[in-house]
Formats: sequence, C-alpha cells, structure tokens
Amino acid sequence: MRARAFLVTVLLLVGCAARGAVTLGPWRSPLEREHPLTGQIWDVKGQRVVTPEAVAARLKDARYVLLGEKHDNPDHHAVQAALVRALLASGRRPAVAFEMFTEEQAPALARHLAGAPRDAAGLGEAVDWKRSGWPDFAFYQPIVQAALDAGVPVVAANLAPATARSVARGEPGAVPPELSTRYALDRPLAPAAQARLTAEIRDAHCGHLPATRVDSMVLAQRARDAALADSLVRSDADGGVLIAGVGHVRADHGVPLYLTARAPGSNIAVVAPLEVRDSLTKPEEYAALFDGTLPFDFVWFTPRMDYADPCARFRLPRA
Ligand code: HEM
Repeated sequence: MRARAFLVTVLLLVGCAARGAVTLGPWRSPLEREHPLTGQIWDVKGQRVVTPEAVAARLKDARYVLLGEKHDNPDHHAVQAALVRALLASGRRPAVAFEMFTEEQAPALARHLAGAPRDAAGLGEAVDWKRSGWPDFAFYQPIVQAALDAGVPVVAANLAPATARSVARGEPGAVPPELSTRYALDRPLAPAAQARLTAEIRDAHCGHLPATRVDSMVLAQRARDAALADSLVRSDADGGVLIAGVGHVRADHGVPLYLTARAPGSNIAVVAPLEVRDSLTKPEEYAALFDGTLPFDFVWFTPRMDYADPCARFRLPRA
C-alpha cells in the first residue's frame, strides 16, 4: 500500500515537472497581500493575465531569460527560484548569472565550487557576501542551489565595484576598453533611451546628484548593463539566465539592448516581479512608472515589503 502511495507521489511529481509546473510558497512580504493584483501575472504584449505555467513555457523557448527583482523583496527571489527550477525541469541547461557576484569574486566562486560543486550554502561565505551590501544570502541561495543541483554554471556577471566607481567619477579610460568597443559605450544610446536612463538615474538619487556627475553615473549604469549582457554571451551554454535588479533587465535601455547588439535576433524573455501599490489596481496603470510602457514581457505582481520613502535616505544628516 505504502509502495503504491510512493509510486503515485513520484508519478505526480514527474507529471508536474513535465508540464512545467511553477511552485511558489506562501507570500513572505507583509503588505498588500489582499490587493487585487497580488499574484497576478500580466503578459505585456498579449495584454492579458496568464498562468505561471504559460510564463514557464515562454521561458523554455528563450535563449536569454532575464529575471528582475527589487533586491529586498523575498517574494521576488521566490519567483526567480521557481522559474529557474521550472526551466531546468524542462530540460534546458542555461548558465545562471548573477548581478550580485562581481568579476573579482569569480576566482573565489570557482574555487569554492571546485571543492564543493553542490554547496550553495557555503558559497556566501566563500565570496564574503556579508561585506557586499546585498540583502541576506538566504534570499539567493535557493536559486544558486537549483543551478548547482542541475550542474549548470553559476556566473559572476557584474563589473568590479572599483571599476563602476571610477566610471561614475568620470575618470578617463575607466570603462574597460573591450566592453566599450563591443557595446559602443563611447556613444550615447538612441536619444529617447538616453533621456529615459538619465531621468531614471537622476530620480533614483532623488535629485541629489550634482549636474556634473549625471552623465558619468549614466555611463556607469550602461557599463554595468553591458558587462551583465557580456557575461551571458560569454557563458552561453544552452542560453543563459540573469538574476538582476529590475532597472537592469528593462528592455528599453537595460541588458536586452546590449544582448541584441551582440547576438542579434536572440530570443530574449524578461520577467519583472513588481510590488503592487494600493492606488494602482489595473496592470496597465503600472506603465506610468516606466514612462508609459512596461518594458518587460511579463510583470509578476507581488505584495510589498514596506511603504518607505526611498528618498528618506538622502535626507539623513551626515554622520
Ligand atoms: C535610494 C536608493 C539609492 C541610494 C541611497 C543610492 C546611493 C548611491 C551612492 C551614495 C552612490 C555613490 C556615488 C559616488 O560615488 O559619489 C551611488 C552610485 C550609483 N548609483 Fe545609486 N543609489 C540608489 C539607487 C540607485 C538606483 C535605483 C540606480 C539605478 C537606476 C542607481 C545607480 C547608481 C549608479 C550607476 C552609480 C554609480 C556607481 C556604481 O554603479 O556603483 N542607484 N548611488
């Protein structure tokens, strides 16, 4: 009898994996769980609500899968982990690249995995995660574990912080020359994209950036986006997955732009988990937060972590 129950369970699990089931646990962020959009997934081009399995089916066909996040929202990481697991269960074997690991951490990452190829838990310590300033490694560990269990590469995708800082300070020659040439970083983006990114960087720093710094900060953001795209192209095994902030994955001026420049015609799919806002109850209304168009393939609405004003940090007195 027990053997029969076991067999049924195994068959069910195999069946779910084969159908590309996407399993999320209960919500972890505390606010707006009852909001009408919470848990809904909006297909931006199709202008309709879709199921997690429809998203997984679309990702299965993409060469590059970009999964955004608001860094401090655990539900965004749960969505990423569920989608990575579904992609791997479908038989795809993409490299999984992380914005949170930088190129200078790559040797420590490789050393750790050479000694303990399945040990996601120990990876945080191996790369000194606690000093990185990112949220708790526990948010990212299930994504890394899914990659390691499937034996696909885990890739350190980001520029070294010192490089980004030099670019942001406007130091001449700070952009790595091969990155600059490959992705035309010595020229501005198309005017509308350049203007949007400039406004985004200004707004993200709440109007506190000196006018003389704005252009070099925009270049730093572009250099990061280009480096993230480049790491996906370089590590491309059976395509690649990128785990990164929502600002990096947006299709209008983020990583997709550089992927398309380098690998024209690539099938790219972008999923952006977004926190719901109490005043916005229709998916289309969220386009206003992105200059009128949602620059993603799918938006996955989640509860909120807080209502904190992001500009409050800029008003704190200096220590
Ligand atoms: C409230 C949230 C944020 C705070 C408190 C903040 C603060 C800072 C500070 C203090 C710096 C260093 C500036 C310097 O080197 O003088 C910086 C750099 C930078 N920030 Fe932000 N920032 C925030 C959000 C953002 C967002 C959302 C973006 C992207 C759209 C962004 C993009 C950048 C870029 C590109 C740099 C240049 C250096 C680098 O890339 O590391 N920041 N930020």
